[in-house]
Amino acid sequence: MTQTVHEFDQYTDVRAALADPALVPPPPAEDGPAGASVAWLRASVARFSSGEAHRRRRSLVEAELARLDPAALRNPAPDDGDLRVRVVRTLAEALGLPEPAAVAAAVPVVAGAYFGHQDPAADAAVAELVALLGPDPKDEAAMEAAAGRIGLLVQACDATAALVEAAAGGDAPPARVLRDEPPVRTTRRVATAATRIGGRPIAEGDAVLLRLAADRDNPVPLVFGAPPRVCPGRAHALALADGLLGRALTPFARLHHQATPLLLPNAWDHASAAALAAQGFPAVGTTSLGVAAAAGLPDGAAATAAATLELARVLGRGPLLFTVDAEGGFSDEPAEVAELARRLHEAGAAGINLEDGRADGTLAPARLHAAKITAVKAAVPELFVNARTDTHWLGLRQEETAARLAVYEQAGADGVFVPGLSDPEGIAELTASLLVPLNILYSPAGPGLAELAELGVRRVSLGSLLYRTALAAAVDTATAVRDGRPVGLAAPSYAQVQEFQAPGASG
Ligand code: HEM
Repeated sequence: MTQTVHEFDQYTDVRAALADPALVPPPPAEDGPAGASVAWLRASVARFSSGEAHRRRRSLVEAELARLDPAALRNPAPDDGDLRVRVVRTLAEALGLPEPAAVAAAVPVVAGAYFGHQDPAADAAVAELVALLGPDPKDEAAMEAAAGRIGLLVQACDATAALVEAAAGGDAPPARVLRDEPPVRTTRRVATAATRIGGRPIAEGDAVLLRLAADRDNPVPLVFGAPPRVCPGRAHALALADGLLGRALTPFARLHHQATPLLLPNAWDHASAAALAAQGFPAVGTTSLGVAAAAGLPDGAAATAAATLELARVLGRGPLLFTVDAEGGFSDEPAEVAELARRLHEAGAAGINLEDGRADGTLAPARLHAAKITAVKAAVPELFVNARTDTHWLGLRQEETAARLAVYEQAGADGVFVPGLSDPEGIAELTASLLVPLNILYSPAGPGLAELAELGVRRVSLGSLLYRTALAAAVDTATAVRDGRPVGLAAPSYAQVQEFQAPGASG
């Protein structure tokens, strides 16, 4: 009897199918000698397991990847002519595995047979890898951990090499190439029980083919799959690709690819930026509300282009790493936004924030915002573009947020920002499908830094919170003196504030 195959290519259906516990990866067909066959490997790794075994094996992989220093992945192993070998060797070295050169030679042989071809050479390569990793064959847990390590290298090998090959011809960032030429276009599942996807009934034993690539109807590609089995190596794949392509990160971009998220406090003038830098913050942002309010102007109404540029010029006099909140770019002409970005960069800015929210409470069309991002990246590729969507603030559905972020990412954004989003599930859903770092606005009522880090957030900004706090402190101090209350605040001294002058300032 032939098996019924159901195909899905719409984002909502594919995502629902990937999350459905009744749909599992096709289990390995045969058994093979433990520690010496691809069949044993497939029967022992997260990729082909389900239920409790999947959870246990996936945590092993995640723990292994958590040990990795992302910076190490950007330093590729020497080029011996074979890209797949180089990918695996870089990863094996970063993981501190024994004899990385021998490991790297064996893994591509296993990768060729991982999805089901019989190959005695691949069985021999598994045996060699197990011998190199050296688990005690009688210790089941150690054998499972060794299989997990091999599985991780095998998963990384072909897909990452394909990405590097596709990106090598041009200068598009790997995150964008992934969308255009996804290395993994489909994935399969079988139904262990009757279920329903997108209203279509699926009988027990039926097969399901899921298309992960984006198309015109599906703006949110799932090139790395989706929870609970989303690729745990997606950040690693992009770091490996950057390294192998010789794409260096700017110092500011690097702060978004560390083990802990970048906490970015927002300043409104030189003294507030310098005071924050003096406390060891590696970078600061500006707050458009603070800049506008200080100048007696409205925020978000494209009224502060001159004040914003002026602040960038002052901040740019020193060594401070800073990024500028430039509302929607103060124009709906992408060429004008690109010109502003060029001037900000010339002034010393390392990044720019561009938002799609408008003063009248509507959103700029996603295509227009994407055109601004592309124009800025074309004019100043080194400037880190953080593309902000105000969907959440406007109460739009999470799907609209995900769709807009995918479009902005595709347009070349280096990071994306969803102010107002604070529910852990919504954040986790976005970080699972995003390729670029997600920025969240800290909310005193929302998750703390540690939880945001756990959820995969890479940058946490404070927005206008510090400016508003400073206003509150000023007013509270004045009213305390007037009303005879004690003055609570330990303010910096006159001399300390004098030290926050911009270099080269003349009196
Ligand atoms: C561009 C490169 C890569 C692409 C496109 C990619 C894509 C994917 C996809 C689509 C899945 C899910 C498959 C499914 O659910 O059916 C997956 C799973 C997996 N990937 Fe990646 N991957 C890449 C690189 C890597 C790297 C570098 C690593 C390790 C460092 C890795 C480790 C894994 C593992 C262990 C799984 C299985 C997870 C599980 O079943 O829970 N991948 N990958």
